[in-house]
Amino acid sequence: MTQTAPWWHAATAYQIYPRSFCDSDGDGIGDIPGIISRLDHLADLGIGFVWLSPVYRSPMADNGYDISDYRDIAPEFGTLADMDRLIAEAKSRGIGIVMDLVVNHSSDEHHWFQEARRSRDNPYRDYYVWRDPAPNGGAPNDLQSNFGGPAWSYDERTGQYYLHLFDRRQPDLNWQNPELRRAIYEMMNWWLDRGVAGFRMDVIDLIGKDPDASITADGPDLHPFLREMHDATLKGRDVVTVGEAWSATTEGALLYSGRDAGELSMVFQFAHIVQGWDEVHGKWKPKPFDLVGLKQVLAEWQLALADDGWNSLFWSNHDLPRAVSKYGDDGRFRVVSAKMLATVLHMMKGTPYIYQGEEIGMTNIAFTDISQFRDIETLNFHKIQTAAGVTPGDFLAGANSNGRDNARTPMQWTDGPQAGFTSGEPWIEVNPNHREINVAADRARPDGIFAHYCELARLRRELAVMREGSFTPYLQDHPKVMAYVRQHEDARIAVLANFTGEVVTVDVPRGLAISGRAISANYPGRDALDGTAELRPFEAVAILEG
Ligand code: NOJ
Repeated sequence: MTQTAPWWHAATAYQIYPRSFCDSDGDGIGDIPGIISRLDHLADLGIGFVWLSPVYRSPMADNGYDISDYRDIAPEFGTLADMDRLIAEAKSRGIGIVMDLVVNHSSDEHHWFQEARRSRDNPYRDYYVWRDPAPNGGAPNDLQSNFGGPAWSYDERTGQYYLHLFDRRQPDLNWQNPELRRAIYEMMNWWLDRGVAGFRMDVIDLIGKDPDASITADGPDLHPFLREMHDATLKGRDVVTVGEAWSATTEGALLYSGRDAGELSMVFQFAHIVQGWDEVHGKWKPKPFDLVGLKQVLAEWQLALADDGWNSLFWSNHDLPRAVSKYGDDGRFRVVSAKMLATVLHMMKGTPYIYQGEEIGMTNIAFTDISQFRDIETLNFHKIQTAAGVTPGDFLAGANSNGRDNARTPMQWTDGPQAGFTSGEPWIEVNPNHREINVAADRARPDGIFAHYCELARLRRELAVMREGSFTPYLQDHPKVMAYVRQHEDARIAVLANFTGEVVTVDVPRGLAISGRAISANYPGRDALDGTAELRPFEAVAILEG
């Protein structure tokens, strides 16, 4: 029996970072009524579901990835009634709202942690991970936080250390405790019953950790926990679940997202992102762009998940730089290169995610002073790097190229004051280039970036070959172009893209040759590939045969 494909195979996703999307009340912080006021923008784009970064009550140490009440909304974002209205208004436009589920850790202000730190025998103590000091009084072991520095902080009152794989204000929850797990599942069901379309699960690869063995990602209990969660919450509901998993391998992805695995709908993994980072200094040290390396990783994942499992397709999110600045050209060729990146990504197999502002080609911002940054990770690394003797210039080069604030500058709606994001003072600077780059200007152009993304979302709904077709890469060693073919039954699409600002002449391999109709292109006039192709700067074309 052939299973019918789930609805989200045909969906294009859109990520909203609420703090920076649209502010309705002039406090300089985006909010839920602001999102509601912009839902038509997403409906016009043809979005199937929104991944909403956290809107729960939170002291905002990590902009909401530190939750102090999983069943309430942060007052700066609105109320539960606003949230219900968002779910209903989105639904009436055919859009599902996917909540961000941050359950590897909570905020230190969550009442569970407030209780847990009162005494060693408090009933909530075991909801978190506590260990005695090492014999010398120091941390139990050398585990490091993802935000820099030790992953253990000492609690004076009870004389033990607690684990935090992120900031000290984000204590890790102890998934070994069955009551904690039950409390999480109840909370998930509470949201599902309210009508959310699913969950994006924050750093879900960490929940099975064994800190005593210094194992954080892919711990022994990870997959058993996810199967238990599935049975307790997701089973029988037609929802979409997306697991953020920095550590996922292609084999691991099948465990998470295999058709019969009973865990999640898809993985959201970063192999293609991390291949572009410095081997020693990670993302903080800019590295020249390497298209061959990037293509290798993309192809490896396309091929490994050809028959089972499901992947997310993305260039950017709220933790990453802007796509066009990182992989395209945010100067002279901004518009064509933004479209090229869209075509190349959306024509692959998986669920594509558009990060807010990507649909109009928003760019990185170049900060010149540490006082302009807001991100806790960047600020922590600044302290660490300064202490290690990194010069201000080198720090800025790293932070401006890969820092998380690039994606967090406010959405550029208009060329007016504060880009139409707020009537007040924005919590982080608006990119001055909003005078040229904004939704109103781009949408007014029939050949704008927005129009290009609309087409891609429509094609995904219409063409089975785009959703389910096989993937065959070509020209893998070519340093300037990317090429592949998708095939499903009699339908065939060939994609060819130039990743440079130069004209590139390519000998078209036999398997890539095609003639038909350009269904996604950023220059006019190419309906076939054969012999040699002279590609214009950042030209991309997807041709459907026949
Ligand atoms: C991943 C999230 O995407 C990021 O923004 C956050 O800081 C960490 N997880 C911790 O929750």
